Amino acid sequence: MIRGGTVVDAGGRRRADVRISPIDGTILEVGPDLDPGAGGAGVIDAGGCLVTPGLVDLHTHLREPGGEEAETIESGSRAAALGGYTAVVAMPNTNPAIDDAATVRQVLELGAKALCDVRVAGAITVGRAGKQLAPLAEMAELGVRLFTDDGCGVQDSQLMRRALEYAGPLGVTLAQHCEDQALAGGGHLHEGEWSSRLGIPGIPAEAEELMVARDIALSRLTAAPVHFLHLSTAGSVELVREAKARGLRITAEAAPHHFTLTAAAAGGYDPIFKVNPPLRTDDDVTAVKAGLADGTIDAIATDHAPHTQEAKEEPFDQAPPGMVGLETALALALTELDLPVERVLALLAWGPAAIAGLTGDHGGPVQPGRPANLTVIDPAAEWTVDPDRLASRSRNCPYAGRRLTGRVRHTILRAEVVVLDGEAQR
Ligand code: DOR
Repeated sequence: MIRGGTVVDAGGRRRADVRISPIDGTILEVGPDLDPGAGGAGVIDAGGCLVTPGLVDLHTHLREPGGEEAETIESGSRAAALGGYTAVVAMPNTNPAIDDAATVRQVLELGAKALCDVRVAGAITVGRAGKQLAPLAEMAELGVRLFTDDGCGVQDSQLMRRALEYAGPLGVTLAQHCEDQALAGGGHLHEGEWSSRLGIPGIPAEAEELMVARDIALSRLTAAPVHFLHLSTAGSVELVREAKARGLRITAEAAPHHFTLTAAAAGGYDPIFKVNPPLRTDDDVTAVKAGLADGTIDAIATDHAPHTQEAKEEPFDQAPPGMVGLETALALALTELDLPVERVLALLAWGPAAIAGLTGDHGGPVQPGRPANLTVIDPAAEWTVDPDRLASRSRNCPYAGRRLTGRVRHTILRAEVVVLDGEAQR
């Protein structure tokens, strides 16, 4: 039993204990002052805490197969559970890419033992090369609901149109990494003051916005849904706002680093601040925050992108882009967004669960009969980020030393306590 907490789900908040069944992994009873039973064995303390549907990350790089020196499904899922996630969607830019049924099966099998539910995003094109449509149907048959060439956008508009025409009847969603490669021109930083000062080629905001605009048009043309990954510019947020107002089937996510950091952070040439899309300007951060507040952006997704120390110690223009994020996302959102906790949890749990097609298992509501995938959060706990204490195999966290408020206390996966008092249990 999870005792003494405040349950928060899409239905609102209420003081309630939650009894769960280790036998079938479901919620048995929810209500105030439930009987803890003789001796109180099996009672987890949630005093002063929020008891919420487990968080869902739409955008996690678990690096397996092929990048195990940076992360494995085992280490990444431990980081996820510690960050309050009960489900993550593993990105397909692995080696080989997750672009067929055999590779999907391999990742799902490795994920079956993990500390969170590991779902898979399949590639849109073979090898993520942008030339030939991947076998979406055989991957969809294995339960894949999101497809993306993340790391790159699909450049060829005709191929993207065909992919959308194919995806619509399969009932799956294409998720786009919005970047017009030609305009991005091999840049490494947002094009603006900081790229000029540092003498590093920049990526203009328009490289993202062109593809957002194109895919809104292609969604209209095909009537198929499009999800936009890691939106980073004010112009992108405005395009999505307008598309939604017109009733188009568009959803979007933003990553914590795009509402907490700007290009100025890279002023010391430290590649820890290199990410794609790049950190932008104060105005972009303000626009992303406004989009998260008004529902233009549906989800916060980590874009957890582990890289080895060695790779991240290369010079700025050679280091790979990416930051780890699973263990800091919730606290960054609670600390840096001036939003009610219900909205923050909508962005981290039930919003992404709906986009990933996971609402049967994740995202709540917290009520009898539902799978016991839950997170217990202490919203008042203060802590300091120490990259050396992360469970991820990689240390490329840009928040070292940052004080945050709000921390995961327990994570429960199918009634198994996988994190207890901030410690992974296996
Ligand atoms: O910063 C990024 N890193 N952006 C991406 O799109 C890919 C990711 C990675 O896989 O490292």
